[in-house]
Amino acid sequence: MAIHIGENNVFLLNTKNCSYSFSVDQEGLLRHLYWGSRIDAIEDFKNEPYVWEQGFHPIYDVKREECSSFGTMRFKETSFKVTFADGVRDFRYRYIGHTIDKDELTVILEDTVYPLQMSLHYKVYEEVDIIEKRRTVKNGGSDVVTVERLHSGECSLPGAGWNLKNFNGMWNSDFDAYEQKITGGKTVLESLRGATGHVANPSFVLHQNAGETYGEVYYGALAWSGNFKIVLEQTPYEYLNILAGMGDTDFEWRLTGGTTLETPALYLGYSPDGFDRMSNSMGEFARKYVMPEPMAAKPLSVLYNSWEATYFDVNEQAQLQLIEKAAQVGVELFVMDDGWFGQRKDDHAGLGDWQVNTVKFPNGLAPLTQKLKSCGMHFGLWIEPEMVNQSSELYRAHPDWVYHYASRPVMEGRYQYMLDLTRQDVQDYIIGEIDRLLTENDISYIKWDMNRGISEVASAMLDRSEFKSIWYRHTKGFYHIIQSLRALHPEVEWEACASGGGRVDYGAMPYFDEFWPSDNTDPLDRLSIQEGYSYLYPIKYMRAWVTDSGSNGKRAMPLLFRLHCSMCGALGIGLNLNESTEEDTELLKKYVTLYKEVRPIIQFGQLHRLASLQADGLQAVQYENGEDSVLFAFLDHPSRWRTTFTIRPRGLDANTSYRVEIEGQQQQKYSGAFLMNSGLRIILNHDYASCMVRLLPDR
Ligand code: DGJ
Repeated sequence: MAIHIGENNVFLLNTKNCSYSFSVDQEGLLRHLYWGSRIDAIEDFKNEPYVWEQGFHPIYDVKREECSSFGTMRFKETSFKVTFADGVRDFRYRYIGHTIDKDELTVILEDTVYPLQMSLHYKVYEEVDIIEKRRTVKNGGSDVVTVERLHSGECSLPGAGWNLKNFNGMWNSDFDAYEQKITGGKTVLESLRGATGHVANPSFVLHQNAGETYGEVYYGALAWSGNFKIVLEQTPYEYLNILAGMGDTDFEWRLTGGTTLETPALYLGYSPDGFDRMSNSMGEFARKYVMPEPMAAKPLSVLYNSWEATYFDVNEQAQLQLIEKAAQVGVELFVMDDGWFGQRKDDHAGLGDWQVNTVKFPNGLAPLTQKLKSCGMHFGLWIEPEMVNQSSELYRAHPDWVYHYASRPVMEGRYQYMLDLTRQDVQDYIIGEIDRLLTENDISYIKWDMNRGISEVASAMLDRSEFKSIWYRHTKGFYHIIQSLRALHPEVEWEACASGGGRVDYGAMPYFDEFWPSDNTDPLDRLSIQEGYSYLYPIKYMRAWVTDSGSNGKRAMPLLFRLHCSMCGALGIGLNLNESTEEDTELLKKYVTLYKEVRPIIQFGQLHRLASLQADGLQAVQYENGEDSVLFAFLDHPSRWRTTFTIRPRGLDANTSYRVEIEGQQQQKYSGAFLMNSGLRIILNHDYASCMVRLLPDR
């Protein structure tokens, strides 16, 4: 059993390796008691009267709370802020009761004066060590209550000196993992773009002194693709308070009588032994509980994407040629990226007009889809449905369909505007157009892009008192559109892209089958991007293309290095195959075949980050399924004549003998114990050297 209730209202949530406990204390407040390694003895969690040692300190700030709200004598950051109709701005609650439904606990609180209820929902995913938190507030009265902040959850860690891992970024520099010591004050991770964005990820990883395989790690990920805010406040009272949820900067929700507001989920996890366990628990959790069917259990195809080969210059002839080449190297899914619709010659025109451009494709898409069918391949298409260019039929017909202030010009971002997704007619237009596209053409795959944030956050259809709710409504509108399209076309596969990894989050995951983690396809940069991505997001969702190098300002690197790098995720190809040499085509063919053989291990196996270029002078990553392992190792350049490296794989069976194969060449056999403890020696002796290693049980 995962949920336990002890004496004096002590709640204990247990997963396989972790416990989380809180109580309704003597003052009637929800008090956080524990988060960490599993403790079964619920009687050990004593709900003793709170000892308020020093009268100068406000009790609410001193206490580790489960649900703090703005006001009273609380001066710390809080997870709820509300204004009642009479101007009262604090929520003073009493505990009403709780319900348990299988693995879900709901704790109900109500204001002592006003008919406002808050429910705290806890769902326990026992096997994968994840606890989900979510909240709902319900206005049981008739007066409007204004909610100004409602986080998904609050928790805390004792002591000080916590290290935070998150991801700095910008376009082309996604998932730049950093570590920062949290000292005093508040550390804030936030997006104000109306989407997740590249600058910070809606997640946190906290530890005192952890590494890949040791040390306690506490982590959380928000299931939300809109504005978010995570506040980590190091209080003077020897605890770190953690608040995470929808962004409250420019947020307001008018909660009318009888209505409810619900937060997105916050997934909390704990690993007793390092980041490796964290990543694999999150991977398993994502596969079992978040990824949508039917793709969740299927490996992703080897994909071709036209973007870097042709940019906007797509046309029937060149795409047909590419299809032929892609078929030769073993591609299974051919995706035509931007440029195929409306008056799209570059990024200044066409968005919103989802009709095939008849100059570029005089015969429509049929010649491509027929050709693909004859080659046994599937067809995919790029769209950016939330957007419109000023130069488009759609904008000319509906200039009021974009977010705008009546008195000011609308800012352009990549020469485009954001459609007002809070409007039913806009939602219906997008659903109708994409539905038509998918119905009229043989399309198996959609790459859904999003290349600007929201500005001028006002809608022609909403009263001005609702404008601050638009951020929330927009994200809900986006979810509604993709969900409706998925329901209409359940067989179609969907990729989430937002100028690369600007929409990698657990909110988008249930609606998409994969992510495009970055527009940066330089393999060396990509290695660190992929490493950053892999801490909290599943490898199966990590699309990775092999692209041209040595042109368009890109560093030249051997094709093998580029291939190995992309094989670390869901392999794709973005090369201009029309210009590939015969030798390159042969190499591609060989490695695409090899990838298909090992992809179940890569996409569904356990992931081990064995070495990192920055820290170890070598990048090495291993994927294993409890039997076979696939490893990739990368060196940018030999430094000070160092060309021999030892890597120590994980997760092998100590007593099994393994056949070692490096780049298909049989090496010696070694026991699992030897490989894991003494290690495997590999030689990488030139610039951009890489290799693929397989460890196969010798049975
Ligand atoms: C940004 C995406 O991230 C790229 O992969 C490509 O699809 C372009 N947009 C197309 O405009």
